[in-house]
Amino acid sequence: MSYPVTLIPGDGIGPEVTEAACRVVEATGVDFEWDVQQAGGAVLEEQGIALPEATLESIRKNGVALKGPVTTPVGKGFRSVNVELRQELRLYANYRPARSLPGIESRFEDVDLIVIRENTEGLYSGLEHEVIPGVIESLRVVTFEASERIVRFAFETARHYGRKKVTAVHKANILKMSDGLFLDVARLVARDYPDIELEEYIVDATAMRLVMHPQSFDVLVMENLFGDIISDLTSGLVGGLGVAPSANIGTSCAVFEAVHGSAPDIAGQGIANPTALILSAALMLRHLKQLEEADAVESAICSVLSEKKSVTGDLGGNASTQEFADAVAELVAAAV
Ligand code: NAI
Ligand code: MG
Repeated sequence: MSYPVTLIPGDGIGPEVTEAACRVVEATGVDFEWDVQQAGGAVLEEQGIALPEATLESIRKNGVALKGPVTTPVGKGFRSVNVELRQELRLYANYRPARSLPGIESRFEDVDLIVIRENTEGLYSGLEHEVIPGVIESLRVVTFEASERIVRFAFETARHYGRKKVTAVHKANILKMSDGLFLDVARLVARDYPDIELEEYIVDATAMRLVMHPQSFDVLVMENLFGDIISDLTSGLVGGLGVAPSANIGTSCAVFEAVHGSAPDIAGQGIANPTALILSAALMLRHLKQLEEADAVESAICSVLSEKKSVTGDLGGNASTQEFADAVAELVAAAV
């Protein structure tokens, strides 16, 4: 059986790390039919088609995409390709696990948590306007429907992975209506999951507790902007952007990508760390129910990281992106 997957190389270090990730997942023996599609990049931006319809069509048809990072121009031009992709395909849940990895220096050695971020509304609704010159309003939209969907996704994830607790992160002390609604919904959904504890925690206090006692968290669920910030923080707890994977999940499609961006400062040099996208590709394997293969990729990454021999410069080694990927692929091939 073969698996058709849309492959978006992206720009900057995107093509380098996607090539690496493809090599590793192919080493599992799973037969992928890559459907290569474009998104972002200077040429498409200039033509005004940052996210071509063909790319969306391909993902809708295949249901699964592996995506490299794409550059987003700041403060002008098109909306972020990433935000548009999530909204067009209704990828309502952003799933970002943060687990301590061997051989990666970080403050803690026993972090194992999952951040689930609402991906479609909040301050990312793109509703901004000028009231009078010098006064801008941005609308932070919170709906019952999207809150219910994301909290349920969090509880389902917790149940699926045998987790014990879901923390609903909020600012309902100040945002009494919007985050008040989010909390009401969380309590309502939690009734369907008596085996899993619901914890409520204010976002700023969550940030502090995460850097002091990250082990006290299990699954965390929150709205869009809080999730954006908190999930970068949790990436930092386990070694930073170079090693942080993510998945964007909807009802009919899923897009797997690294948390990091296109890293223009190191693009084209063959030194980008492919770990984050390789781990994202492992999440993709799991999504495709290739569980042993996903485990093989994750343990191969862990072995290569703990040996430190074949890792990239950001992790203290001097291997190229390709050498790193080859070392992982070799172990994967031997394991399956
Ligand atoms: P960035 O994540 O691209 O880079 C931040 C720093 O981390 C840089 O010093 C970079 O060299 C380093 N870095 C990132 N990934 C690395 C890797 N795999 N290996 C080694 N070092 C790595 O963040 P930045 O600079 O804020 O964003 C650059 C562009 O990427 C922006 O246009 C941004 O909008 C876009 N972006 C795209 C994302 C996506 O497509 N999902 C996500 C985040 C940002
Ligand atoms: Mg972000």
